[in-house]
Formats: sequence, C-alpha cells, structure tokens
Amino acid sequence: MKLAILSRKPSLYSTRRLMKAARDRGHEARVIDPLHCYMSVSTARPAIYYKGEELTGFDAVIPRIGASITFYGTAVLRQFEMLGVYPVNESVAISRARDKLRSLQLLARKGIGLPVTGLAHSPDDIQHVISMVGGAPLVLKLIEGTQGIGVVLAETPKAAESVIDAFLGLKANILIQEYIREARGADIRAFVIGDKVVAAMKRQAREGEFRSNLHRGGSGSIAKLTPEERSTAVRAARVIGLNVAGVDILRSNHGPVVLEVNSSPGLEGIEQVTNRDIAGMIVEFAQKNARANRTRTRGKG
Ligand SMILES: Nc1ncnc2c1ncn2[C@@H]1O[C@H](COP(=O)(O)OP(=O)(O)OP(=O)(O)O)[C@@H](O)[C@H]1O
Ligand SMILES: [Mg+2]
Repeated sequence: MKLAILSRKPSLYSTRRLMKAARDRGHEARVIDPLHCYMSVSTARPAIYYKGEELTGFDAVIPRIGASITFYGTAVLRQFEMLGVYPVNESVAISRARDKLRSLQLLARKGIGLPVTGLAHSPDDIQHVISMVGGAPLVLKLIEGTQGIGVVLAETPKAAESVIDAFLGLKANILIQEYIREARGADIRAFVIGDKVVAAMKRQAREGEFRSNLHRGGSGSIAKLTPEERSTAVRAARVIGLNVAGVDILRSNHGPVVLEVNSSPGLEGIEQVTNRDIAGMIVEFAQKNARANRTRTRGKG
C-alpha cells in the first residue's frame, strides 16, 4: 500500500510512529506537509502537487492536521478524496470535530451524554444561561481554547458573572458548563479506531487543579472502562464521523459525559501509558479499509 501521512513535521512523535508502523508492515509511506501542497481544482483533471511534483498512486491518507491549519489542511485532504484516495478520517468529519459547538450539538442530537452546556452571545442573557446550567460552581470555556488554556472554574455566581463579562467583553465565544465535581479532577481519554476502544487512559489533575491536561501537569495511567463508557466513546466517534478519534469523557453521577472528540489525537501519551502499538493499529485499519473511491462523502458537504 502507498500511504500519505499528512503532517507538518516528520519529527513529531505521532508522525514518526506512523511512518515506522507503515514501513514495518511493508508499506511505502511518505510524510506530506499539507501547507506545501497546491492543487488544481478542475472538473476534467483534479490534481495535487507537492513541491513541484504531482502526487499520484496513493491508496490511503492518514491526516494529522493540527488545529491551526484546519482550513487549508482539510482542503488538501478533500482534494485527495476527490482523487479517490481513502482517508482514514474524512475531511468533513475533521471539520465537524474542529467546531466545538457543532460537535456538541451533533452529540446532543444523537443522545450522547454531555455536561449541561449553555451558550450565549449577549451579556444581557448571562443570568439566564447561568441558571439554566444549574448555577455556580460552573466551568467557563473559550471555544478557541486548547490544552486547558481558557478553561476556568468559577466557584461562585459572582465569580462566574465577572469572568463571563470579561470574556464576552473581549468578543470571545464561550461555553458555560455544569461543573462535574464528582470527576475529581480526572478525565478519561478513550482512543477509538473503527468500532472499538483500542486503549484508554485516565488523566488526573495535579493537586489543587481541576484540569487534567497533561500540559497542565496532569498524569496519565491505564484506565479500565465500563461497557457504557466504551459504547459512549465509540458512538461519539461515529456521530462525528471519525474512524480514528480521541474521545474525552468525564465520569459523572449520571454516567459518562463526553467533553470532546479529537480528530488528530496524540499518540505519545497514550502509547507510553498503555504500552499499545496504536500507530500499528491505525496503519492496519487503513490497510484493511483502503479501496479507491471508498470515501463516504468524497469531500462533499
Ligand atoms: N464541565 C467540567 N467539569 C469538570 N471538569 C472539567 C469540565 N470541563 C473540563 N474539565 C476539566 O478541564 C480539562 C480541560 O477542559 P477541555 O478538555 O474542555 O479543554 P481543553 O483541553 O482546553 O480543550 P481541548 O480538549 O479542545 O484541547 C478537562 O480535561 C477536564 O479535566
Ligand atoms: Mg481537553
């Protein structure tokens, strides 16, 4: 199989692991930086070029598109789809996952458990939204945030109000969310490939912190998931349309609630904690499913 790994940097852990996994299995694999791809968008003969060379003959593409290049990265992936190359995750699904509001709405529509979440644009509506999500303590999130930056726990109604005022004053879009206290600073990262959770870890926030992000000093350990947690993770990935996903779950009193579905989940933390060859499983998934023109949407929608 000839495999393209769409990634900005060959030196990143996940990219290196995927390359090695592909080569170990006898595949021809190349790292392609999506920002150095350019395209001819034509009806007669769509094409992708990379540093002057036309890219042809690929059987599958594994997209590892960072949040900061979603727009151009998904356009390049869509072009691969138009050429009939099988994408492990489709461009449409990646775009959905990158839009947090859209994802939450899709998950809610399909009955996936979520923390009660409110959204507001106008400061006039804040009071009502706060009471809708059950009042303080509550969690406020900048929609653009990542790695725990822009996620704030407001313990009192006064604190909530002033933080929300500040965010809205900066014209930031925010989520106002029920605080799942019983999670006690831990969340679960479930790594889904196809219709299975292939690895799971628990991330525990350090003392005095409620955010479990490893970048914020959280620590990972192997997690054993309940059947309900497994099926929640698999269903959440399916609702977004991702074959490979990192699903973040909190253990709440009313069962598992999904925080987020990641379309390019990092391999480093989860491989090291669980000792699983996740890169190998992704490559094998591509191998098993890659057929020309097998994309469900072929870049439509
Ligand atoms: N409603 C909540 N109740 C309790 N803890 C929460 C809640 N929301 C988030 N947390 C904690 O804060 C951490 C960071 O929140 P979240 O994952 O939503 O933002 P992020 O990591 O900045 O964004 P992204 O996951 O998109 O990179 C979570 O991993 C979790 O430990
Ligand atoms: Mg997170």
